Amino acid sequence: MVTGDPATTYLTRHRPDVAVVGGGPIGWAVAWRCATRGMRVVVHDPAPGSGASHVAAGMLAPVAEAYFGERELTGLLTESAGRWPGFAAALTEATGTDIGYRTEGTLMVGLTADDLAEARRLWAYQQGLGLPVTPLRPSQLREREPALAPRVRGGALAATDHQVDPRRLVPALRLAAEQAGAVLVAEPVRRLSDITAGVTVVAAGCGAAALTGLPVRPVKGQVLRLRAPDGGPPGFRHVIRGYADGAHVYLVPRDSGEVVVGATVEERSDLDISAGAVLRLLRAAVDLLPEIAEYDLVETLAGLRPGTPDNAPILGPLPGHPDVIIAAGHHRHGIVLTPVTADLITELIIGGGSADPLLAPFRPDRFADLPDVVGAAAAGSTSQPATEG
Ligand code: GLY
Repeated sequence: MVTGDPATTYLTRHRPDVAVVGGGPIGWAVAWRCATRGMRVVVHDPAPGSGASHVAAGMLAPVAEAYFGERELTGLLTESAGRWPGFAAALTEATGTDIGYRTEGTLMVGLTADDLAEARRLWAYQQGLGLPVTPLRPSQLREREPALAPRVRGGALAATDHQVDPRRLVPALRLAAEQAGAVLVAEPVRRLSDITAGVTVVAAGCGAAALTGLPVRPVKGQVLRLRAPDGGPPGFRHVIRGYADGAHVYLVPRDSGEVVVGATVEERSDLDISAGAVLRLLRAAVDLLPEIAEYDLVETLAGLRPGTPDNAPILGPLPGHPDVIIAAGHHRHGIVLTPVTADLITELIIGGGSADPLLAPFRPDRFADLPDVVGAAAAGSTSQPATEG
């Protein structure tokens, strides 16, 4: 499978207890947790950290992203967000890395009366679930963020919705996992039957579909990165999520001066950047925060979220293959769901398949009539290489 590098040496000497397919945040976090618990772990990925997480803004937003009809998912998001402070502290302690974890909270705003009406309907739903959404008058909004446009009609605070920088997070997770003994195999995995390990964890994002037959589809997101002028920090501290003349946009400020502006949600699988998408994102961003017009536009990038039919992740054993565990399909929530996914998957492995009840709504077997891609590949057919989760 691989030749002539330390990973090969490792693999020829030790059969891994756990092989993780996918070197994104989920894969490395599972690897870290498993290696820390004494398991021999390898992570397969030709380009770790280059998938969806490289594009992601890093919002930890179980409140702002609690959408109608996704109650069980919201429960998992809330559970994972609650684990984030301890997860971030442990990772920072293990690696000495600043992962850009920030806790100023998220302001949700509406530009026009129509925007505010739409936003308020969602906030009422979120409050009905018991989530902490605090409506703010325009004057209170501006006290918190003076840079908001005077036109912004109103908003609400989701104080517990935080952020982290995914481009710092993934290297930190990799470092923590490797310090704990995990080994990277920088080669693509074409079929799971090529892997020799006690348990295989598929954390391959959109690549999980070809490897397993599970219904994971790419959902394109175009994202911009801007930089505040003169090397200073952005002129606002909260994550801002808003409705602006019917357009949805978020702005995520980083201490470095970077601002991430996102994102389109498109049912397509190319990575092209369209002028129209950039225009719409920038217009909405500038409508909410006029000073953004003075920032440098430093990056335009598209990524592919791994979507599932019910927008929820797929977590647990693959039907018919108890030694293949899925940790994929995190769609818009891969970063926030990293801690809970790593914990649950690790416990599943250690417990020999006995699952935490939290996993029940997210098991792979909730999808009927799955093709047995793993069995077919083992019998001789081929599939596409996997990519990061
Ligand atoms: N969770 C943010 C996004 O998917 O764009």
